[in-house]
Amino acid sequence: MQIINRQLGDYLIRRCEPSDLIPVMEVNLKTLPEHYSDYFYESLLAELPEAFLVAEHQGKIAGYIMCKTEYGFSNFKKLGFVKKGHIVSIAVLEEHRRRGLGRAIVEESIRGVKEKRCDELYLEVRCSNTEAVRLYEKLCFSIKQRLKSYYRDGEDAFLMAIEFAY
Ligand SMILES: CC(C)(COP(=O)(O)OP(=O)(O)OC[C@H]1O[C@@H](n2cnc3c(N)ncnc32)[C@H](O)[C@@H]1OP(=O)(O)O)[C@@H](O)C(=O)NCCC(=O)NCCS
Repeated sequence: MQIINRQLGDYLIRRCEPSDLIPVMEVNLKTLPEHYSDYFYESLLAELPEAFLVAEHQGKIAGYIMCKTEYGFSNFKKLGFVKKGHIVSIAVLEEHRRRGLGRAIVEESIRGVKEKRCDELYLEVRCSNTEAVRLYEKLCFSIKQRLKSYYRDGEDAFLMAIEFAY
């Protein structure tokens, strides 16, 4: 049974299902230089289905977000050890951008990681990716670190994070 988070015009934001994984991988291949094995997608879906979401348009996948949980040092509290959500990958197909889908899937994934009682949510983003940095800033993420040569091609990343209050 499909679990629908919200409707946005003609789009459905819903939980990813195993049968969506191939279309999700296709969106990833078209939009990002970082790719993953089938097993990695399957394991994230099994681990955190609450925050593995898709945007569906007329039966086709227009975007996705996938996350995992980790334990580690806080991005906010000195020496604090916390449970963190991690946005591993997010993308919306070019023809569906600037319609609020990116914002909607991040907002819903925040809800998903909060269900798992995470204290924080973080992600890495290319320093040159202004669209994505703006999106995260609008959702109250802040830049916590610059990670030197984080990407294979040598580009730096911003580590951006948000802290939750329950
Ligand atoms: C980043 C991405 C997911 C945004 O998706 P989207 O559906 O277009 O985002 P939204 O329509 O919800 O936009 C939300 C906000 O992000 C910012 N934004 C998005 N696209 C932007 C652009 N081209 N220029 C400037 N700001 C932009 C704006 O602040 C926007 O709010 P606004 O429309 O009210 O001005 C999309 O551009 C994408 O898939 N990019 C390629 C993959 C990628 O870079 N992923 C992120 C890796 S960390």
